[in-house]
Amino acid sequence: MIPNSVIEDIRYRCDIEDVISSYITLKRAGSNLKGLCPFHSEKTPSFTVYKDTQSFYCFGCGAGGDIISFIMRQENLDYVSAVEFLARRAGISLPDFSAADTVHAGPSRSRILEMNVETAKFFRRMLFDDKIGAPARAYLIGERALSSSVVKHFGLGYAPAGSHYLRDHLLSLGFTYEELTAGYICGKNDRGYYDYFRGRVMFPIIDVSGNIVAFGGRVLDSSKPKYLNTSDTPAFKKSKNLFALNYAKKSEENSLIICEGYMDVIAMHAAGFTNAVATLGTAITAEHARIIKRYVSKVILAYDSDDAGRKASDRAVRLLEEAGVDSRILVMKGAKDPDEFIKKYGREAFRRLLDESRSKFDYTIETVVGKYNIDNADEKIKAANELCLEIASVYSRVERDIYISKAAEALSLDKNSVRLDVEAAIKRSSRAEKKKQTGELIRVTSGISDRVNPDFAKRPRAARIEEALLGILLIHPEFEVLACADKPLCDEDFFTDFAHRIFSFISEKNKTGAFSVSAMSEAFTNDEVSRAVRMQTARRGLSNDEDTYKTYVESLREENRKSKSDSLEDILSAKRSQI
Ligand code: UTP
Ligand code: MN
Repeated sequence: MIPNSVIEDIRYRCDIEDVISSYITLKRAGSNLKGLCPFHSEKTPSFTVYKDTQSFYCFGCGAGGDIISFIMRQENLDYVSAVEFLARRAGISLPDFSAADTVHAGPSRSRILEMNVETAKFFRRMLFDDKIGAPARAYLIGERALSSSVVKHFGLGYAPAGSHYLRDHLLSLGFTYEELTAGYICGKNDRGYYDYFRGRVMFPIIDVSGNIVAFGGRVLDSSKPKYLNTSDTPAFKKSKNLFALNYAKKSEENSLIICEGYMDVIAMHAAGFTNAVATLGTAITAEHARIIKRYVSKVILAYDSDDAGRKASDRAVRLLEEAGVDSRILVMKGAKDPDEFIKKYGREAFRRLLDESRSKFDYTIETVVGKYNIDNADEKIKAANELCLEIASVYSRVERDIYISKAAEALSLDKNSVRLDVEAAIKRSSRAEKKKQTGELIRVTSGISDRVNPDFAKRPRAARIEEALLGILLIHPEFEVLACADKPLCDEDFFTDFAHRIFSFISEKNKTGAFSVSAMSEAFTNDEVSRAVRMQTARRGLSNDEDTYKTYVESLREENRKSKSDSLEDILSAKRSQI
């Protein structure tokens, strides 16, 4: 447990506006602040920061919480690490509470990071071991022609072919089997624990803070699977990390080059293109796109020149655009990937390719025009419709104008008729979008598809009263002891399990005066905390005094009595019909 005094200190010394402003731009809106939500892609701000309650809530995606849950989400940390992160930022020194804490929660992020450091050292030692590392050096330095300084720069290593060298080494350093499996170092079968990475050259994956968070390993021959990557662990999430971003973020360029493979990144860095990164054996995600947006607003996609690569590029362009990142696509001829291209044609040729990389829209026009036979009137209409839809999805008016001209030219159509079609498409899509959003909101507020509070839909009226009541209690936890028609709110008053859990948490923490929304992150998931903050936010501008609170307690009890009598009636009427 983290002492309450630490939480208090953090809340006192870290202002929510300061902390959140270091990630997104906040603008004043009345007495609050607004910005573009970092947790989903949006173009009009619905992410609101409340200074008075030191909380945030996004009306678009429902994410909400306080400074600690913000950091948990944003930095992908667990509760303890988020507290440590903020304490470091505010210069608060922490007592060592983490060691005792981790016994039940499973291996902690920091233990896994320590283990990864030892693992990387081990792999490197094996690579440079005269005898053991010989085949791996022959592969990297011989076959793949990497210089030994590049090998060292990227911290490459070798996992020897046996099944327990790494395991035994880490055990001797005091790591446990539980840590080995949680960190994706070892698997377990009927014969015991075995190393996942065997007979592979190893690529450590380093996050932007310099932690070794995961590994990728490649076989030395053509056996399968070619690459093996760490799965998600307490220290690593594939969908949030990019290979070599730790180096690329320091590059002078104001753009990133995104490619598919480890070897592509290494080849590009070695050739001087140090702004190259790769996703880790997965397609680019919306989370990647938002991380990229933190560093640059332009990327060049250098995916493989095969069908899969083109598909991946299309998807990436869309996700990046949603995050507000402009992308260009590198078209490579005569080589399948950047690594091969640079080897074959040299760095200058690659630089020219980068300069010539076409904008995403030229690429779209080429694809669409290539797909249809535009000498045929019907097909030309189809091509025009497809392009108009693409243009309609572009946010900037200026950009749209440029594309309208380009599309009109490519299809030899009148510019104005293309414009009218684009405008019609924009209207249609904004109507559809509104409808979708309202539908979504109705589903959530009516409790259908409610994952956080699955009991909600069973009795929405009672559940809604509970939420209002808790909304007030989250603002005034001290109301918990107020007598309402002679007894205070208690466990039996609650209908949904979720509301009951929040209530129990508040009353437990009240015993020591330690309740705060910050404390909730210790016992509730981010989504649950968001929901609690939604309840609290919904009470803004309403009366939240003792009388209102008591009225809600009484309505909740009334509602429960009614439903009890309902069910009694059900039973009786069932009896009656049997007779
Ligand atoms: P590629 O198959 O294109 O390989 O996979 P590559 O990067 O050109 O590899 P080399 O040049 O033969 O060494 C691209 C990326 O996809 C992931 C890896 O991250 C790889 O770098 N991948 C590929 C896997 O995760 N598993 C696989 O089995 C294959
Ligand atoms: Mn390759």
